[in-house]
Amino acid sequence: MDSTHFLASNARIVLAGRVIENGWLAVVDGVIAEVGEGSAPESGYDFQGDTIIPGLIELHTDHLEPHFNPRPEVFWSPTAAVLAYDSQIAASGITTVFDSLRIGDDVEADAPKKKSFSNQVFELADALKVTREADLTRAEHLLHLRCEICAWNVVDDAEAFLAKHPVNLISLMDHTPGQRQFRDIEKLLIYWRRKLSRPDSELLKIMDKRVELHAIRAEPHRRRLVELAQQHGVVLASHDDATSDHVTEAIGDGVAIAEFPTTVEAATASHAAGIHVLMGAPNVVRGGSHSGNVAATDLAERGVLDILSSDYIPASLIMAAFSLPDVVPSIDLAGAIRTVTLNPALSTGLTDRGEILAGKRADLVRVRIAEGHPVVRAVWRQGRRVV
Ligand SMILES: [Fe+2]
Repeated sequence: MDSTHFLASNARIVLAGRVIENGWLAVVDGVIAEVGEGSAPESGYDFQGDTIIPGLIELHTDHLEPHFNPRPEVFWSPTAAVLAYDSQIAASGITTVFDSLRIGDDVEADAPKKKSFSNQVFELADALKVTREADLTRAEHLLHLRCEICAWNVVDDAEAFLAKHPVNLISLMDHTPGQRQFRDIEKLLIYWRRKLSRPDSELLKIMDKRVELHAIRAEPHRRRLVELAQQHGVVLASHDDATSDHVTEAIGDGVAIAEFPTTVEAATASHAAGIHVLMGAPNVVRGGSHSGNVAATDLAERGVLDILSSDYIPASLIMAAFSLPDVVPSIDLAGAIRTVTLNPALSTGLTDRGEILAGKRADLVRVRIAEGHPVVRAVWRQGRRVV
């Protein structure tokens, strides 16, 4: 099974539009050569009735950063962090991952910290380059630059990063209190109490400062970042859109993906405008948003959910995709799998993958449903077994 040629037989195969209950699939030179129903034309690798789906495509995971910075002020070797993270990604059935790296320090930090978010990003991007060039990773790693638009250093760092590394996706984030993800100040306060462990008086001061700086920085920084994305031909994503004004702005900026819209209004308007609506897979698995915003399944029922992302739990992607048809009966298995394969591929211009079809990359996952869980049994990237 180490070669990039193989024949899989006795498999349930999830195509983009339907499911073949018993079929076979031939891979030649890392590409899907043929897919058929019933018995295979010659003896092949017996999948024992397991399901084959396309390799998952993950657009927004922040899971690399905690591998590198597992505790406050503790930094792991960036290359070791990339390799450990990559193993977890691939074992979750993901064959293409947009590593989401945040640039832009918190607005209340007036001077660079010892190792700011941006320092981390450059170290991690260098490590990703090394592992990519030496062909050490199981999944294919692309880059998603998450830009916190009100940060003092976001524009300079985005410029420096784009000059040094290829970037495949840029998202424009604005976590100013009182809007978008944090419209509900009380909920933000509860979240910050846990995360920052500071007295409320200090947290309220930080909130005030963020609101003040938003008024000065949000607009010019956003304009410059959009310009940079256009100059470098990078796909743009909006983040936490909540109102129709946010969506109008996103349309004007040429946004292709709306990450985590927080309201039905914003999601519906984005989808209608041809912007792919991305929601968190943990939101599907947990049955709601951890920030108290709109539920992904609510958007799925309305037919406006296009893409799922594992966000902070890589294994949630496959879990959510397989559970979606049970929670939302109007979505069949092929449609659910599209949210984690073909749709993210199309939204980012990856036309060579994302579905089981002759001529596409043999990025494949063998899945067995056991105890109600989709268990990843094997993963191939371009026909090469990586898990
Ligand atoms: Fe957010």
